[in-house]
Amino acid sequence: MLTEREVVVQRKSANLTIRPRRTRRTETLRRMVRETRLSVDNFIYPLFIAEGIKEAVEISSMPGQYRWPVAKLAAEAESIAKLGIPAVLLFGIPDFKDSLGHEAYNPNGVVQDAIREIKRAVPELAVITDVCMCEYTDHGHCGVLSDDGYVENDPTLDLLAKMALSHAEAGADVVAPSDMMDGRVGAIRVALDSQGFDNIPIMAYSAKYASGFYGPFREAAGSTPSFGDRRSYQMDPPNVREAIREVELDVQEGADMIMVKPALPYLDIISKVRDNFDLPLAAYNVSGEYAMLKAAARMGWLDEERVIRETLISIKRAGADMIITYHSKEAAPWFS
Ligand code: PBG
Repeated sequence: MLTEREVVVQRKSANLTIRPRRTRRTETLRRMVRETRLSVDNFIYPLFIAEGIKEAVEISSMPGQYRWPVAKLAAEAESIAKLGIPAVLLFGIPDFKDSLGHEAYNPNGVVQDAIREIKRAVPELAVITDVCMCEYTDHGHCGVLSDDGYVENDPTLDLLAKMALSHAEAGADVVAPSDMMDGRVGAIRVALDSQGFDNIPIMAYSAKYASGFYGPFREAAGSTPSFGDRRSYQMDPPNVREAIREVELDVQEGADMIMVKPALPYLDIISKVRDNFDLPLAAYNVSGEYAMLKAAARMGWLDEERVIRETLISIKRAGADMIITYHSKEAAPWFS
């Protein structure tokens, strides 16, 4: 039989007095040692703006998310701002599509109208616009097609620059190119600066992967490619070093903010980009990531609030400053 004193000595020598659990015992202690904090300030809320509808229409694969007509946007923008969410990211769904996506740079196009309407109703809400051709082309690809169906890089740059410029002219606060053409950040920077928009930041979708998790978005935006896929321009999922190179190029071309997309299957990429670059970093918690949680919660298989919180904190913990997420509105009150 050991004496009490001998037990203490023995436990010390076996390191059994070290107990990480001590600081997990109460919520107060957990709160004191918490390493990562999420705030509503980190959220960016995506909005789909559609022509040809009179009321908001729910997106079936994204419960709780809607296509909005411009006429109903003011009230929605007010409710977003009231929750403390600082910014929205706009996607347009035009009625008319053609091979060169003319509606994308129509000064009276659906996104241009939406920008003006939101800035009129809630001037302090930051408006970021997605700059990409796929919602505007009849073939659903993100740029100009050659005769044999290849998305041509440099001719696409001119259209993207025109599109970004028309968003800035309508009053966008930030433009966000998501097409993955080479050189688009530089082309957009030149176009903006040449027209006096040198104060408009570019948030570059720098490391955007060819992902199956965009499925519900493409249903919502009607932007599924009519043939083939996006693997000749979006990144190949197994690649890491290439992501660093993509970010580096965007930074050299003048990106003000960088992005990794999607978020959950690419947390390692977010973390590596964070370690390598000091620019503000966004991560896009995409439509398929949202749909997965919503579907499992509806089935009663997951505790919805718990998994949304855990998901969002994981993206922040990986290194993102900003999270583009469809959960913004429901999660805002938890992080205010
Ligand atoms: C446009 C674009 C897409 C998304 C954002 N911008 C779709 C795509 O690349 O096919 C996806 C967003 C989401 O899934 O939530 N290129």
